Amino acid sequence: MGSPRWRRLWLLLLAALPPSLLLCGQRRGPAGPPASFSSSPPQPEPLALAMPGTSRRAGGRGETLDGGSESGTSSKPSAALEEPKPSRKQPSPCLRSVTARAKADPRFGEIFRFDTPVLMWDQHFTPQTWDRLKTRHVPYGWQGLSHAVVGSTLRLLNTSANRHLFDRDAFPGGCVRCAVVGNGGILNGSRQGKAIDAHDLVFRLNGAVIKGFEEDVGTKISFYGFTVNTMKNSLIAYEEYGFTQIPQAKDLKYIFIPSDIRDYVMLKSAIQGSPVPEGSDKGDRPQKYFGLEVSAEKFKLLHPDFLQYLTARFLRSELLGTRYGALYMPSTGALMLLTALHACDRVSAYGFITANYEQFSDHYYELEKKPLVFYANHDMMLEAALWKSLHRAGIMTLYQR
Ligand SMILES: *[C@@H]1O[C@H](CO)[C@@H](O)[C@H](O)[C@H]1NC(C)=O
Ligand SMILES: *[C@@H]1O[C@H](CO)[C@@H](O)[C@H](O)[C@H]1NC(C)=O
Repeated sequence: MGSPRWRRLWLLLLAALPPSLLLCGQRRGPAGPPASFSSSPPQPEPLALAMPGTSRRAGGRGETLDGGSESGTSSKPSAALEEPKPSRKQPSPCLRSVTARAKADPRFGEIFRFDTPVLMWDQHFTPQTWDRLKTRHVPYGWQGLSHAVVGSTLRLLNTSANRHLFDRDAFPGGCVRCAVVGNGGILNGSRQGKAIDAHDLVFRLNGAVIKGFEEDVGTKISFYGFTVNTMKNSLIAYEEYGFTQIPQAKDLKYIFIPSDIRDYVMLKSAIQGSPVPEGSDKGDRPQKYFGLEVSAEKFKLLHPDFLQYLTARFLRSELLGTRYGALYMPSTGALMLLTALHACDRVSAYGFITANYEQFSDHYYELEKKPLVFYANHDMMLEAALWKSLHRAGIMTLYQR
């Protein structure tokens, strides 16, 4: 924490959170509970993160998120499935797809619910959905958010492209193969670029540095996933590694994760091609991030019910039972990988956390090895266990070395 860069990152991360919440950054020693715990003044308190041996297994029995909300509203998974069935499910001609393999797996067959809507668009903005989602805090709902802002944003998501991640007709006859590229240090020197680019669709996220790392991470990009918070933080924190601009390309689509009102506000401005009118990003020009081509087709919005379902069934961290529960959410990488698993026929994960993560730097683009930093708003050990079991079950391929 001594160097100016660390201090900057630290401040950045603190600044990124609502003032009422603390962000607790920490590095975990090789073998154990958090070695130290720092938080904003006044009172540091210990926070037990789930450890590999003790983590609730992915998709443990419980289905509701508990302890997440100050008001004690717990969400009902049955309610999460009330949503009108989306039209996004185009039939897949692919044999042995993620869906088929997951359904055939004794454990994951009970966890996956492929009829959960992945994306949200104009038709979801109904009085019923408003009443249901206003009882859950972001990213799982709309508690405390402006009806006018959410409604006017969703009304702009009115094209067929907003209802599915990709059009199956563009991939006649075969399996749609997706690569999801996390930013983990395991990719440094991996020479996986060609293998990654050989996929039909490539998902990237946050500080996805490509220039100078083409051999290791490839160049193709079909989706870029983020929250406004993680996107802007990445531009600051990874600028020195060449992440000076959000990826832009003709066929690239942006996947917004609605973790705050500012995501709805930015999305609306992005579609309208106008400066952000209010809130913490007031005055920002969305074209600076997403390029000059503006249209609703360019943007996808993850459904809060999908985030709720993923968290409850796949990444139900024990952090949710602590007072820091409201801080917790799956990492951006985890959300992108799980999104791909609910949309693609084959999924390969690159740059995601593995059991031997300590051998690698935090990110593939660092110049000197830096340990992976664990923050209290994510549960990386739980994510590692999930990737490992999905790989073992043959549902996806996890790049390991
Ligand atoms: C979508 O909404 C915009 C803005 O209200 C409108 O101009 C456009 O015609 C609508 N498009 C469709 C396909 O309904
Ligand atoms: C990346 O890999 C190179 C070559 O294997 C190694 O020398 C370097 O230390 C690695 N960088 C980091 C940040 O681990």
